[in-house]
Amino acid sequence: MKANVYVTRKIPQPGLDLLANAGLDVEVNPYDKVLSQEELTKTVRGRDGVLCLLTDRIDDEIMESAGAGCKGFANYAVGYDNIDIKAATSRKLPISNTPGVLTDATSDQAWALLFSTARRIVESDRFMRSEKWQGWGPMQFLGADITGATLGIIGAGRIGTSMAMKSVGFNMRVLYYDIQANEELEKSTGARKVDIDTLLKESDFVSVHITYTPETTHLLGEREINLMKKSAVLINTSRGPVIDETALVKALKEKSIFGAGLDVYENEPKMTEGLKDLSNVVVCPHIASATTKTRATMATMAAENLVAMLQGERPPNIVNPEIYK
Ligand code: DGY
Repeated sequence: MKANVYVTRKIPQPGLDLLANAGLDVEVNPYDKVLSQEELTKTVRGRDGVLCLLTDRIDDEIMESAGAGCKGFANYAVGYDNIDIKAATSRKLPISNTPGVLTDATSDQAWALLFSTARRIVESDRFMRSEKWQGWGPMQFLGADITGATLGIIGAGRIGTSMAMKSVGFNMRVLYYDIQANEELEKSTGARKVDIDTLLKESDFVSVHITYTPETTHLLGEREINLMKKSAVLINTSRGPVIDETALVKALKEKSIFGAGLDVYENEPKMTEGLKDLSNVVVCPHIASATTKTRATMATMAAENLVAMLQGERPPNIVNPEIYK
């Protein structure tokens, strides 16, 4: 009998083809919506493997429902904060992610948000469409300078490093905050490792790329946001809960910072009350990896991981390798 895998939402075809070509019986959630916890519990029951998304909460109950025959969960994302890794590890259940392939797409999106916020692109676009423009004016839509400014990177992993590398053409001074020193980044951009308070006080643009963990929850709260320059811009393409969104709305309302460009939110898909009414914020619906090529590569990568799990092999992108010890 063919092994049976469940894909919790339609993903790009190359990933689905790879699963089918591996001889698996593939069932895909037929609805273009996130499954509720109850639906997920039911649909994963008795599956040999599951390809899941960052919007699925894979907790111990879900793993229990999948059952003893389940060979693993392949996450269609680089982040895996949606999965209870501790529970999976104690069940000796492999979990995989999709690192590397979305690095450029994500840092590109961080730059797109930086430009849009600094140069008030969305606000100007809305203004033009409302046909309010009466002609050129010296005081219209004054924004923030990018070239020569200081860029602060919070989390200098793959994506943070890529974001910083792209600043070289803009002749920016780069500061970064991370627990580890990043020599590659220092060499290629002249970046300086600093503590978080220094980064927040000195940067004109702060871009968040740190992994979301219990320790980084609300890493940027009211105190930290208040350390930022009045002229500074905050960008987040990592995970929403790293920033206290209520504190951010307050800062944006009071104009204690210039603006923010957000791709992720504390309680997705909801935005904190008041955020959408502010003109000094650019908001996108968690689309940093959403290029046709990147999403297709993520699909094949997640599928390859799942196939390896079903063949009893270690998946190329295992996140809990300790299960093999
Ligand atoms: C990820 O992969 O973690 C992104 O947030 C979505 O692609």
